Amino acid sequence: MITAATSRVEVIKWMEGFVGEKFTELLKTVEESWQPADLLPDATLETFFEEVKDLRERARDLSYDLLAVLVGDTITEEALPSYESWLMTIKGLPQDPDSPWMKWNRGWTAEENRHGDALNRYLYLSGRINMREMEASTQYLLADGFDLQTDMDPYRSFVYTSFQETATNISHRRVAQIAKKQGDNVLAKLCGHVAADEARHAKAYKAFVSKIFEADPSEMMLAFEDMMRKKIVMPAHYMRELGVDIGKTFGHFTDAAQRIGVYTSADYTDILQGLIDEWKIETLTDLNEQGERARDYVLGLPARFKRVAERMKAPSLEYKFRWIA
Ligand SMILES: [Fe+2]
Ligand SMILES: [Fe+2]
Repeated sequence: MITAATSRVEVIKWMEGFVGEKFTELLKTVEESWQPADLLPDATLETFFEEVKDLRERARDLSYDLLAVLVGDTITEEALPSYESWLMTIKGLPQDPDSPWMKWNRGWTAEENRHGDALNRYLYLSGRINMREMEASTQYLLADGFDLQTDMDPYRSFVYTSFQETATNISHRRVAQIAKKQGDNVLAKLCGHVAADEARHAKAYKAFVSKIFEADPSEMMLAFEDMMRKKIVMPAHYMRELGVDIGKTFGHFTDAAQRIGVYTSADYTDILQGLIDEWKIETLTDLNEQGERARDYVLGLPARFKRVAERMKAPSLEYKFRWIA
């Protein structure tokens, strides 16, 4: 057991074996992974054009908001190289390539890379997207970078990834459900596969935080509080379109997501409540005075958020994204 004076570097080092176990349990090997090609037309086959025609027919009936959400999700997934470099800047992670931490980072990135590939290829074939506009937005997001407000701190970073992976699980799962309703079973299956990956990632990051709570409860509690005070911003927050002021596109994207119920302010509250339950915040022991105050603050948030959400109206303004043909 680690004591009060423990530093973050020691906790991270102490967790290496645990991270190795989660790597085996919660990431899939390449051999057992699905690939985008499993779900999309195969260009080496004679039947390719026929399959593409079918795909385009199914995609014809997808709603404008659903397409907007899909493009935003794709751009977010395609900005993966910057999330990997962000993970590598976390202070105190051992840089030895054989460390379970580094194996986790690489394995996680490798899984994530398939998400952007699958969604991008689908959207390209659908014929409904202005690919050049979408690609420019991806390049912007990578070039602009983003500040996730984790201060390169491992504790804050894993609160962030726990939250963000849960949010992507929810949104991809909902997109799958809506795609099915709108008659596109292949897109539904594709998003279902992505959602299942995100669920495993969320489980792992939540387990990392639970483990840190065992060793360093007060500091972990303060990190959780700090992230919730700053509010969790999605990387898509920094997304922009060619010729559109930075900051505008994201608002319209979240409006579309809220309108079709892919990701709403109620989800933000539910995710927070889920983390409070998962990390047993209510019954945490061994907190110092500051930690106790941080706990009280976090425990009061879900009710506060609910009151605010009740007063919010579903956004009705429709916006024409440059991404959609
Ligand atoms: Fe992903
Ligand atoms: Fe993920």
